Amino acid sequence: MRGIAYTSEACPMTTDELTALLEGARRFNARIGVTGVLFHHSGRFFQYFEGADDAVREVYARILASTRHHSLRVLLDTPLRERHFADWHMGFCEPPENAFQAIANDDWAGAMPLTRTTMQRPEPLALVLSYWSRWIADRPAK
Ligand SMILES: Cc1cc2nc3c(=O)[nH]c(=O)nc-3n(C[C@H](O)[C@H](O)[C@H](O)COP(=O)(O)O)c2cc1C
Repeated sequence: MRGIAYTSEACPMTTDELTALLEGARRFNARIGVTGVLFHHSGRFFQYFEGADDAVREVYARILASTRHHSLRVLLDTPLRERHFADWHMGFCEPPENAFQAIANDDWAGAMPLTRTTMQRPEPLALVLSYWSRWIADRPAK
């Protein structure tokens, strides 16, 4: 298994277009067993996704090919022992500035070699998970 996190800059998009993008991504991810979260704030994306190596590679190719964003910067690309977002084929939230910045600017580079050797949960990913858990707890599933 593998997990990838990145940030990117969104191209101008209506709410409907963003919803359609998310629905398409969820459909594809559900089909090939990829899970994760997508955060959007003020024209920026943060995404973390995970799954079997081949599936992650396929989704990553779709993300790279998308014309809906640019300036993609990989924060984490690491082998995983277990999933961190098993229940979400692509959770979505729009965090406030401070939460988005804290996640995007966390020490992802520092997490990479550590994860490769110990296979522990990368520290910045723990922050994503804790933010997402709180977000979802405040908004019961539809
Ligand atoms: C921020 C962002 C996240 C995406 N996440 C996924 C994803 O998790 N799974 C997936 O299959 N495609 C994902 N995509 C790709 C889109 O689902 C879709 O293939 C693509 O946006 C359609 O191509 P186009 O954007 O060039 O019209 C993502 C695209 C963007 C911009």
